[in-house]
Amino acid sequence: MIAIAGSPRKGMYSDRIAERISALTGAELIYARSLNAGPCRACGYCKGKGDGRCVQNDDMPSVLERIRSSDGLVLISPVYWWQTTAQIKVVIDRLYALKAEDLRGKKLVVIMNGEADDSDAEYTILSRQFAEMAEYLGMEYSFLGVGTPEGNEEVFQKVLQKVDVFADAIA
Ligand SMILES: Cc1cc2nc3c(=O)[nH]c(=O)nc-3n(C[C@H](O)[C@H](O)[C@H](O)COP(=O)(O)O)c2cc1C
Repeated sequence: MIAIAGSPRKGMYSDRIAERISALTGAELIYARSLNAGPCRACGYCKGKGDGRCVQNDDMPSVLERIRSSDGLVLISPVYWWQTTAQIKVVIDRLYALKAEDLRGKKLVVIMNGEADDSDAEYTILSRQFAEMAEYLGMEYSFLGVGTPEGNEEVFQKVLQKVDVFADAIA
């Protein structure tokens, strides 16, 4: 699997979750903040002349190639205003260059990490949204929503325990 960590903050909660997932599942870990990746331009090149290749010659074609030849994609993102970070959204939009058969049957694993407790409605909303995307793409879907109040290491240790159980289920 290819795991993409979406926080702009190095070494913080999402990074730590992503590193744990990577260690436990063997997923190759990519930090979205380190990618030179432009947003999708909706130019249609990938669907026409490009035949699955993006017109932008940045880091994404190589990431897409790695996703294409893997058995799944793991997205780990902080919750920003009930949504993913902009860094992860760029990666999601750029999946557009892939062909339907490149993703069909693969795993789509989404981990959303906010400050709000995991009972918050934001995780239900996000889970449902990605479920629709997975269904549309024909991907096998798993979701985990977790929350840590800033600076609360005790709560975060409990979050990591949930991540460990989840990693077992998706491996
Ligand atoms: C711009 C911004 C918007 C945020 N919006 C939300 C939100 O809607 N819900 C929430 O639970 N946390 C929200 N947070 C808090 C982050 O999700 C939380 O701090 C998370 O742990 C950050 O992940 P990181 O430690 O990997 O950077 C927001 C933080 C920022 C900076």
